[in-house]
Amino acid sequence: MTDDWKNHANAPKVGQFICHSNDIENNGYKSLLLNEYPIIVTKTGNGINAFVNMCPHQYLPFDYLGTGIISQDGSAIMCSSHAAKFCIKTAKGTDGFGLGHALERIPLSIDEGGRVCVADI
Ligand code: FES
Repeated sequence: MTDDWKNHANAPKVGQFICHSNDIENNGYKSLLLNEYPIIVTKTGNGINAFVNMCPHQYLPFDYLGTGIISQDGSAIMCSSHAAKFCIKTAKGTDGFGLGHALERIPLSIDEGGRVCVADI
């Protein structure tokens, strides 16, 4: 895991609360701004994962033009703007404008109460 997520303005601090796991639908996602820092949190068969919500193609939020961005099998995020596709498990781009790029994963800790927070790498 890289720490690229730290290289954006207003990157959250370790321990920062992001959301509650119950706030995210199964095979779905929640996008939010934390002090203007864009985050997308996914809940799929790969568990709960968080990424900077900024597509590496044109730096738009993945859900900029629509909400159907999680693949039916829960394995991928597909950008709503120009269909760049990324594997949630590996964070790597797998199709279209995603090829040669990667999601910027934010490390998470999730406590027994379901609080999803930024973790140390
Ligand atoms: S901005 Fe995401 S594919 Fe173009």
